Amino acid sequence: MVPQISTLGGYIFEYQKSVTNPTGFWAHVADSFFWRKKWDCVLDWDFEKARVQWYSGAKLNITENIFERHLFYRGNQKALIWEPNDPAEPVRELTYQELFDEVKRFSNALLRAGVKKGDRVGIYLPMVPELVIAMLACARIGAVHSIVFAGFSAQSLSDRMLDAGATILITADGGFRGSKTTPLKAIADEAMEGCNCVKKAVILRRTGEDIQMKAGRDIWWDEFVAGASTDHQAEVMDAEDPLFILYTSGSTGKPKGLVHTTAGYMVYTAYTFRNVFQYGDGDVYFCSADIGWITGHSYLVYGPLLNGATTLMFEGVPTWPDAGRYWEIVDKHKVNQFYTAPTAIRSLMALGMEWLDGKHLTSLKVLGTVGEPINEEAWHWYHDHIGKNRCPIVDTWWQTETGGMMISPLAGITPTKPSYATMPLMGIQPVIVDPEGKELTGNSVEGNLCIKYPWPGIARTIWGDHERFVQTYFSTYKKLYFTGDGVKRDEDGYYRILGRVDDVINVSGHRMGTAEIENAINEHPLVSESAVVAYPHDIKGQGIYAYVVCTDFSTGGEEGIRQSVLMAVSKLIGPFARPDKIQIVSGLPKTRSGKIMRRILRKIAEGETGNFGDTTTLLDPEIVEEIIKGRL
Ligand code: WT7
Repeated sequence: MVPQISTLGGYIFEYQKSVTNPTGFWAHVADSFFWRKKWDCVLDWDFEKARVQWYSGAKLNITENIFERHLFYRGNQKALIWEPNDPAEPVRELTYQELFDEVKRFSNALLRAGVKKGDRVGIYLPMVPELVIAMLACARIGAVHSIVFAGFSAQSLSDRMLDAGATILITADGGFRGSKTTPLKAIADEAMEGCNCVKKAVILRRTGEDIQMKAGRDIWWDEFVAGASTDHQAEVMDAEDPLFILYTSGSTGKPKGLVHTTAGYMVYTAYTFRNVFQYGDGDVYFCSADIGWITGHSYLVYGPLLNGATTLMFEGVPTWPDAGRYWEIVDKHKVNQFYTAPTAIRSLMALGMEWLDGKHLTSLKVLGTVGEPINEEAWHWYHDHIGKNRCPIVDTWWQTETGGMMISPLAGITPTKPSYATMPLMGIQPVIVDPEGKELTGNSVEGNLCIKYPWPGIARTIWGDHERFVQTYFSTYKKLYFTGDGVKRDEDGYYRILGRVDDVINVSGHRMGTAEIENAINEHPLVSESAVVAYPHDIKGQGIYAYVVCTDFSTGGEEGIRQSVLMAVSKLIGPFARPDKIQIVSGLPKTRSGKIMRRILRKIAEGETGNFGDTTTLLDPEIVEEIIKGRL
């Protein structure tokens, strides 16, 4: 097992070791894994070239570290508990042995279909155990999985499959989420029209709805695995072979396919999982994130299973059949650690206390949050009413790019403060810089958050575009990884994340680029221009405010335009990216050189009517007056 810290003194001591001798520290952590061959070099790096290699020369397979390494002791222990969308449907539980057999069977089926090491496999599935089986089977044969959240549109799926060059797509007829079903196969059909790299599709039957099967391309999951053996030797991978590609939004351009590699990601997710949650043998751990996002990859699947943990996956939504669903699941499965997003806490808090009636929540030991800043009110509600004042809250700050948690308390060890992610984890060396890149040392400072030394979980590149990786993360400040977040270090040296300082917005923990949403809106034939900004939203953290300039209102008037803008965004990105407010304006505030003054638009969306800072470069001040008057 990975080394576990159990006291504050232990944390301080280990942290010191991890920064004074990082390679010694991470070699020691890595010793607890199963390697086909050990590394030649623990770390080789150059942030200027954005090149990082951990454990190079080592050979391994991450699934051998999940299965073969644990099987002797844990063969009959539950690996995965699946709670269905509909509470009347039976729960599914897979032991380590059962999950292993399914993974090997699917591995053999993939090989039989001609999928080879290094090939990219697209996965577009609802939250069902087959999603875990498919991703681990890819890892086992050395194929690179690229999972697309099942809320994304056909266009988004198609773009991602094309960018990754996926040759096969694993999907389902449909997916259940609360009272709704999503026609995943119909969406995937449309997506596959647009990406001819995908030659085969495997379809899991989930909702039973009618779908079209395309001869020669589509095959049902059951037929695909029929007759496949449960004997399978894992492919031997190099430490730096890609494990997966996961797309995330940035401030400009199309989504970026971040590449995570095998050994470093394995060591880092396993180590942080055990230590942050203080997971103990026999505990039941529940992460409510979808596997389509990095939280699901690292802390629903890889981190827990690498520790031989019992991980619970939930297919549905927190408010269906009623707003007590999470708490019912916690009681039903005696969940010990629960990890969710602040937006879920805020929305449940708003629905009232009656949903906690009759819920015991006595099994809970640790609560976690991730994805966005947690406000004090939500923190206290979570702490008092869910944790009953006895469960520590770990507010974990990290990113798709970091692979695992970076700044977080260790549960029950690090003293917490509401809305603070507290202290850096082992090996993480945060620095705060001013806009010119000068490091702000000492306590009580605020600035942009960078990291100055590599950690094993850091993404290695953007798929097919290393130069963009260099530009996005390693060029703003010399020799530093730039996170895109603002941060404050308080008088005690504690870190509080203040939110993005770039044009990335965070709506209900979903990360989006404003440019991406604008591009979708601009597709509308009657829209000539648009600008999207975030504004504070009580439940979602941030809401999406779109200012739209139209050429003509003839069809349906303003309301008609609003409706079709919403449809365009759903179609091009997904329903979760739909603006909360759409203000039709006759123009946008611009500088004389034609740049949109977003700062002003942000302030108006936040409700301000003045104090717009320097407006001397503003081309047309009357537009600002008009926008303020029409504010929604
Ligand atoms: C962005 C990364 C990390 C998995 C889920 C999101 C924000 C994340 C926190 C936190 C304040 C947070 C940051 C970050 N964020 N965790 N505990 N407190 N903000 O991953 O989609 O890559 O988004 O989420 O702004 O940059 P992601």
